[in-house]
Amino acid sequence: MADPIVLVERDGRVGVVTMNRPKQLNALSGELMDALVATLREFDSDPDTRAIVLGGGERAFAAGADIGELSAGTPVTLYESGHLERWEAIRAVRTPIVAAVSGFCLGGGCELAMLCDLIVASETAKFGQPEINLGVLPGAGGTQRLTRAVGKAVAMDMILTGRMLSAREALAHGLVARVVAREAWLAEAKRVAGEIAAKGPVAVHLAKEAIDAAFEVPLSAGVELERKSFFLARASEDADEGLKAFLEKRKPDFTGR
Ligand code: CAA
Repeated sequence: MADPIVLVERDGRVGVVTMNRPKQLNALSGELMDALVATLREFDSDPDTRAIVLGGGERAFAAGADIGELSAGTPVTLYESGHLERWEAIRAVRTPIVAAVSGFCLGGGCELAMLCDLIVASETAKFGQPEINLGVLPGAGGTQRLTRAVGKAVAMDMILTGRMLSAREALAHGLVARVVAREAWLAEAKRVAGEIAAKGPVAVHLAKEAIDAAFEVPLSAGVELERKSFFLARASEDADEGLKAFLEKRKPDFTGR
């Protein structure tokens, strides 16, 4: 039987999703994207899963869209294949997703990592948008999300020349949250996800939504959303528990209500 294209495991309250097309460096075929969307949606609908790790292999997180499929498809078949809807479905996941990146993180792979909520990278990671070398440009948010993450100068440099950033450069430019030793990338991503999973889910979801809104709305509207989210979080049982636990000098036990 063929190996599953996505490996799924659970580590306490953390769902771990691993892309598994190692021979193609996890090129994001339609089949792989469909499996990712299905798995992420399943974890997202499970209240016992409070954070997700999305990873690839040690050699590659993902080397981009599947160039074979891109080359065989026509604009119409690519459009009709639901390609864009898959990316939207991942963006709509409410559970925080930590990208665990080792090795190549290129093209659609970099766009996928940027669609996650934060990136934990191995010191071996290489980030790039090399589509320009193929005569195209990023097609899944790269020109927008990379520019917001690293600023215009570095985004222009990467997208117009195809230059890759090392993990340390990606950290310095604000693309990744943490860089760790080669052997620790997955364990550290799981540890960070575990830390998030121990917090109150209501506050976590509202905070993720408010941070994402910072890229969509004017400052005044974002601050207004934050204020309302703050009061909504305060109305949760988790806030009662968190505040009480602090005063009683014990660890809170959040239920997600
Ligand atoms: N699609 C399909 N197959 C790919 C692939 C991709 N994006 N990237 C790598 N592979 C395959 C290679 O064809 C090769 O397969 P074979 O062994 O059958 O020949 C295998 O993975 C290993 O790759 P290499 O032999 O090339 O390995 P390398 O170590 O010499 O080079 C690499 C690694 C620099 C990542 C190189 O493979 C490469 O440049 N890959 C393409 C990266 C790229 O251009 N990505 C952008 C794709 S377009 C896109 O993503 C559009 C979008 O925004 C949505």
